[in-house]
Amino acid sequence: MRHFLKETDFKYSELEGLFALAREFKTGRGRHATPLAGQTWAMIFSKSSTRTRVSFEVGIHELGGNPLFLNRNDIQLGRGETIADTARVLSRYVHGLVVRTFDHAEVEQLAAQGTIPVINALTDLLHPCQIFADAFTLAERWGRDGNLVGSLRGRKIAFVGDRGCNVANSWIMGANLFGMKISLAGPPGFDAAPEFDQLLAREGFAGGYEFTTDPYEAVRDADVVYTDVWVSMGKEEETAERIRVMSPFTVTPELLAAAKPDAFFMHCLPAHAGQEVTQTVLDSPRSIIFDEAENRLHIQKAIMATLARR
Ligand code: CP
Ligand code: NVA
Repeated sequence: MRHFLKETDFKYSELEGLFALAREFKTGRGRHATPLAGQTWAMIFSKSSTRTRVSFEVGIHELGGNPLFLNRNDIQLGRGETIADTARVLSRYVHGLVVRTFDHAEVEQLAAQGTIPVINALTDLLHPCQIFADAFTLAERWGRDGNLVGSLRGRKIAFVGDRGCNVANSWIMGANLFGMKISLAGPPGFDAAPEFDQLLAREGFAGGYEFTTDPYEAVRDADVVYTDVWVSMGKEEETAERIRVMSPFTVTPELLAAAKPDAFFMHCLPAHAGQEVTQTVLDSPRSIIFDEAENRLHIQKAIMATLARR
């Protein structure tokens, strides 16, 4: 059974085909493909979502399948039914699971206990669908048919702000997989969970990033400047402290100008203008934030088409 819980669940050699399929869906060449025909895919969400929920629901529908959205608190999982039993029961009804939750171990357990593909739609540890959409967005600009993924190799991404969050972790995994360099800047004390460095080591990427507390050092020679919210879902109690210590890390026009002249600005969204990024940067010609959001749909359709069992 094939799952997508982390970036490395795809081999590098598979990525060109995956991106090419996403491009087919995007350009309309693949619009008649219905690899999920007759299937129902359940989506268990324990956190809020705009992009992920809508792009998966639309994507499943466009692939010929039926999306079934399940708020965690509306099913017995929210009242303590075990993950193992939930996975076994849902495997009897539906053909795939898309899961957004807190503890990454939960998606791993659903994948291990069920008999259907599981897709990680964000955990506290990783957000791989976002990073594949981001990478596809960059490859559209830098690459050409037959060399989409290769166009990422050697490029540098700078992640500024909450360097221990799920999107930062996933970009570290992704950068190592794609052959990119990654430099992160943020305040000390907001490191990734220890399990992330263990995971990175298991994937053969130990130490595969640079970290600095100087955002200008991180963005030097960068092809991409990336940020995410300072207060991720589940961290709301730390809001005041996070805003205080992360305020030197706002992506301003001056910081973006310190990267390469043609560098792109990216953000997974939702954005908090005036905190992690200024409105001017969000609206600037270098900002490709809405292409990233759109590409969630196309790359996730390619991922589901790859994972679906016929
Ligand atoms: N980027 C992203 O995952 O957005 P949502 O939280 O709206 O799904
Ligand atoms: N780091 C953010 C990403 C939202 C898409 C969060 O987890 O809330």
